[in-house]
Amino acid sequence: MAILKIARMGHPVLSEICAQVRDPAAPELRRLIADMIETMADANGAGLAAPQVHVPLRLVIFQAPASRSNDTGADEPESFDHAAPLTVLINPVIEVLDTTLEGGWEGCLSVPGLRGWVDRPRHIRYSGVDAEGRRVQRDARGFHARVVQHECDHINGVLYPQRMRDLSKLTFESEFRHWLDHSEEKRAAE
Ligand code: NI
Repeated sequence: MAILKIARMGHPVLSEICAQVRDPAAPELRRLIADMIETMADANGAGLAAPQVHVPLRLVIFQAPASRSNDTGADEPESFDHAAPLTVLINPVIEVLDTTLEGGWEGCLSVPGLRGWVDRPRHIRYSGVDAEGRRVQRDARGFHARVVQHECDHINGVLYPQRMRDLSKLTFESEFRHWLDHSEEKRAAE
């Protein structure tokens, strides 16, 4: 395994519409997935998309620990939607279940040192296949929905600042930590 170099905003690979993965079981894809998992852990990120490591394929990894959920009052089945284990998602498709927008702070390993406030649909269903070629389909809310949408934007060449409606809410991480409520900090997606 290896820690891969992460492309930063401005690199053309981050603007590409990525290609479908033809063979999820290919050995070189397994190696890429293992390296992406190691790279994400090393960078302390919540998600990583293949183009961020200079590979323009429709492949993302992410996790949404329950501790990062901003859910407070949902019932049991709904709170389940807020968390996800480390997930490999190949050729993902997103369906928006509730177009109501929810704001949250995001960061990105390709936009180091910055945080921005991004509105996104709060309830989605996503599907794809995992590293073993098994079909994955889940409903997601809260941070879980946010991180999946953020990662899937990457494979369509979109970075979170392009989703921002108010650029006055683009901040340096150090100022963000200094000035903003720490409960908000916990909600920041990668
Ligand atoms: Ni990102």
